[in-house]
Amino acid sequence: MFHPESPLRTAVRRAIADRRGWELVEADSVEAVLQRLTQEGEAGRFGAVVLPLGGEGELRPVQVVRLGFGRLPVLAIGGETATAGEVVQAFRDGATDIFLGAREVEATLGERLETLVRGGGGEVGSGGAGVSELRAAHRRARALARQLVHLREEERRRIAREIHDELGQALSGLKMDVAWLERRLAGVRDPGLAATLRERLGEMARAIDATVQTTRRLCTELRPGVLDDLGLAAAIQWQVREFERRSNLAVKLELPGKMPAVHEATATAVFRVFQEILTNVARHAQASGVSVRLAADGTGVALEVRDDGVGFREDRLQENEALGLLGMRERMALVGGRVVVQSAPGEGTTVRVWAPAEPPEDAMETWVGEDAP
Ligand SMILES: Nc1ncnc2c1ncn2[C@@H]1O[C@H](COP(=O)(O)OP(=O)(O)O)[C@@H](O)[C@H]1O
Ligand SMILES: [Mg+2]
Repeated sequence: MFHPESPLRTAVRRAIADRRGWELVEADSVEAVLQRLTQEGEAGRFGAVVLPLGGEGELRPVQVVRLGFGRLPVLAIGGETATAGEVVQAFRDGATDIFLGAREVEATLGERLETLVRGGGGEVGSGGAGVSELRAAHRRARALARQLVHLREEERRRIAREIHDELGQALSGLKMDVAWLERRLAGVRDPGLAATLRERLGEMARAIDATVQTTRRLCTELRPGVLDDLGLAAAIQWQVREFERRSNLAVKLELPGKMPAVHEATATAVFRVFQEILTNVARHAQASGVSVRLAADGTGVALEVRDDGVGFREDRLQENEALGLLGMRERMALVGGRVVVQSAPGEGTTVRVWAPAEPPEDAMETWVGEDAP
């Protein structure tokens, strides 16, 4: 199935027709592609969906996958005009493969399609790694990353609990000892000594109180208890208050009236991404206003953070300049969600985060559609 509105139309047609047994069905609009795919008994006829990259109102790979055609490889064709941003976005959206220049399309598209459709295995080109091997490797990497994220959260929670319990108890003990000593001061005959001791004990009590505050802060920074105890909405609210206090910026906060249950991994991921977004606002935006909107229903959670600051152009960032953004995307991908950043110089920044209520068994599979329904 092919929506050919791209300068590569001829090349693609030739490449595919080259392969015996291949029938190319063209549809002249995105709607027509959809219509054919949704027609009963039709979807099974097609081996792959080829979509043009970029352009207004185009069907995107992620939509194809969401619509339940996940088993079909989704190929994006960029032509010479596709921007790096579009290419990256298409992969993020779950495109199985992307073809850029006309020559590349001519040389490899037919072959690649055949490989993908005939069981998704075999060699790509000559001497390259098999597609299925690459997918398996990618799946393993994702599983490992998910495991690491999980272990790190567990570790943080454990340390927070230990600090809270162990240090907390030791400090309470010290506080009681100080109080006991203060009561004993009445028995000290030498008034000069009594005054000095009282002063010292007062200092000790204040130092203990300050240390209690510090351990509390450390605990919440490691893992806000509110997230475990009261859930995502309460944790977001708490984080917003902390942010307001530290940044002196007023935040407009919109929370759902009723918050449905969200999987713990999802709640943690959204919360950590939210923290990173706010850090970015504080560090880079020079905003005068921030608004945060959390919405949720049975299917998933959506979070939007908008600032009216200086904005930026994501496609102008060097790769090593955007590790925070990359981390957010990875983090959400691990729970089957995604992050969309919309920003332009002088026009502020909006970051939208979406995640399904239940993370898929393997988020990656959902995106490339191997095991999608
Ligand atoms: N809310 C924002 N307003 C303005 N610029 C931003 C905002 N968020 C991110 N940026 C820009 O994007 C870059 C990449 O962000 P990020 O990946 O989090 O890296 P870091 O925060 O470590 O610089 C930042 O250096 C900044 O230039
Ligand atoms: Mg950052």
